[in-house]
Amino acid sequence: MMIMISLLLLASLLPHLTFTARVNVGIVNGTEAKPHSRPYMVSLQKYKKHICGGFLISDEFVLTAAHCWKGYPEILTVVVGAHDFRKSEDSYRVEVKSYISHPHYTFCSLQNDIMLLRLHEKVKLNNNVTWISLPKECEDVKMNTLCSVAGWGRLWMKGPSTDRLMEANTTTIKNKVCKCKWGSDFQASQMICAHGDGGSCIGDSGGPLVCGNTAVGVTSFVDIKGCNSPERPNVYTKISAYLPWIHQIIRNIK
Ligand SMILES: *[C@@H]1O[C@H](CO)[C@@H](O)[C@H](O)[C@H]1NC(C)=O
Ligand SMILES: *[C@@H]1O[C@H](CO)[C@@H](O)[C@H](O)[C@H]1NC(C)=O
Ligand SMILES: *[C@@H]1O[C@H](CO)[C@@H](O)[C@H](O)[C@H]1NC(C)=O
Repeated sequence: MMIMISLLLLASLLPHLTFTARVNVGIVNGTEAKPHSRPYMVSLQKYKKHICGGFLISDEFVLTAAHCWKGYPEILTVVVGAHDFRKSEDSYRVEVKSYISHPHYTFCSLQNDIMLLRLHEKVKLNNNVTWISLPKECEDVKMNTLCSVAGWGRLWMKGPSTDRLMEANTTTIKNKVCKCKWGSDFQASQMICAHGDGGSCIGDSGGPLVCGNTAVGVTSFVDIKGCNSPERPNVYTKISAYLPWIHQIIRNIK
């Protein structure tokens, strides 16, 4: 338990750092994304400060990590269409109507780290704002698939976060290897692990692991010793395992 920590939890434990990012590397070892090339990306904010990533899966629902929300009365807002937080012209803020954490999410074990946010109003889709597809049921991503992650999180474990969306390539790893590295914290039926030259860090929680044009994972946790650790690769909630739950909720609301 001690070696693993949720990306958000850690942020609140670390001393607050105020210097701004000057290096053009990001996520960890990433590069700045082409503005609006990932129009499904949203920033979850608390008091107008970025705390987590998330992604649109329809014009009304955002998928993110359950650990990004501490429960009522905490209020988060969703910023859509953003690239550079210093320029707010293209982005806008939407209130959350309901927070739907997975019913079996438990803060201690980090299993079922997935949450749906129903937006207060449907977002207007355009070139800069649109949703991303989810995998098909029973369609698991294969090991050794080149995927990518993106976020506005920290550039390294104790480093600054970024105003501009960063991205990095990462490759999925065999379940057996993830299990070996993480022990019982890794549940192959519910999780995917991936490693690359770059990867997610604090504040990237809730963002998608994208393979092809599909969001297959939700950024969940990393090794406490450092983001993008080869010893304990970053772990993502496996979306395909939660499709019945996701579909049921969306259907019940329509
Ligand atoms: C999308 O973003 C670009 C670049 O910031 C901007 O020029 C354009 O007007 C935006 N498009 C829409 C539909 O908002
Ligand atoms: C990520 O992978 C894509 C597809 O192979 C490649 O075009 C791109 O250059 C890679 N980006 C980085 C930062 O390595
Ligand atoms: C960054 O990428 C280089 C190779 O491009 C790699 O050697 C290094 O370990 C990476 N650093 C991190 C923190 O992942």
